[in-house]
Amino acid sequence: MDASQTPATAANLVLLGPPGAGKGTQARMLQDRFGMVQLSTGDMLRAAVAAGTEAGQKAKAVMEAGELVSDDIVIAILRDRLAEDDCAAGVILDGFPRTADQAAALDDLMAEVGKRVDAAISLEVDDDAMVTRISGRFTCAGCGEGYHDSFKQPASEGVCDKCGGTEMKRRADDNAETVKQRLEAYHAQTAPLIAFYEQKGALSRVDAMADIDAVAKELTAVVERSTA
Ligand code: AP5
Repeated sequence: MDASQTPATAANLVLLGPPGAGKGTQARMLQDRFGMVQLSTGDMLRAAVAAGTEAGQKAKAVMEAGELVSDDIVIAILRDRLAEDDCAAGVILDGFPRTADQAAALDDLMAEVGKRVDAAISLEVDDDAMVTRISGRFTCAGCGEGYHDSFKQPASEGVCDKCGGTEMKRRADDNAETVKQRLEAYHAQTAPLIAFYEQKGALSRVDAMADIDAVAKELTAVVERSTA
C-alpha cells in the first residue's frame, strides 16, 4: 500500500451496471484509493481469448456477439482468481456476477473462506448515453488504464498518464450492434441482481451519469459507509 491509499478495508464489493456504466473506470480508482483488487471477468476472458486457452476459444464468438459466456466457464475462472493471495485484501468485482447462478456461486465461494459480499453498488445510467461512452473508449495496451475521446483524454495525446505507454487499443466488441446486444443481455440477465442484493440489504445505488470524479466521490462514500 502506498502513502496515498486509505488503509485497507478488506471489503468485498460488487459493481453492477450496463456496458459503459463506468465499472472498470471506477473499480480502478477504488483499487488505487483503498487497495482492494479489481477483478474484471471481461479482462480475464479477453486474456483467455488472447492466450488461446480452451475457455478462451469457447468464449471468443460469444463475446463478439455481445452475449454472455456460460456460467461454468466464468465461475471457474473467477474461482481460480479468488484463491490467489492478493484477494485477501478484498476485491472489487467488475462485471461479475451477471446471472442469478453466478450470484449464488459467488455467495458460496465467499462463504467457503468466511467472507461475504459487503456491498453491491448499482451504477445507474441511461442506455442512450452508453453507446456514446463505449464508442469513444480506448485503453492503454500496457496497463489497461481506460480513456475516452471526449470525456477522459490523456494529459499528453497518445501517452498513458499512468504508465507512459504509447500503444492504445480499442475493443472488438465496442461497436453499435454488439453494444445493443450487450445492453439487452444486461437488462434480461443482470439487472435482476439489483433486487437480489437489495433483499440482502447490501445494495447502494449511485448516479453514474455524473462526471467521473463526482461518481468516484459518491462511491468512496459508499465504501466508507459499508466498511465503517
Ligand atoms: P466486460 O468487459 O465486463 O464489458 P461490459 O460489462 O460490457 O462493460 P464495459 O467494460 O463495456 O463498461 P464499463 O462499465 O467497465 O465502462 P468503462 O469504465 O470502461 O464484458 C465484455 C464481455 O465479456 C461481455 O459482453 C460477455 O460476453 C463477457 N463477460 C464478462 N463477464 C462475464 C460474466 N460474468 N458472465 C458472462 N459473460 C461475461 O467506461 C466506458 C467509457 O466511458 C470509458 O471510455 C470511460 O472513460 C468513460 N466513462 C466512464 N465513466 C464515465 C462518466 N461518469 N462520464 C463520462 N464518461 C465516462
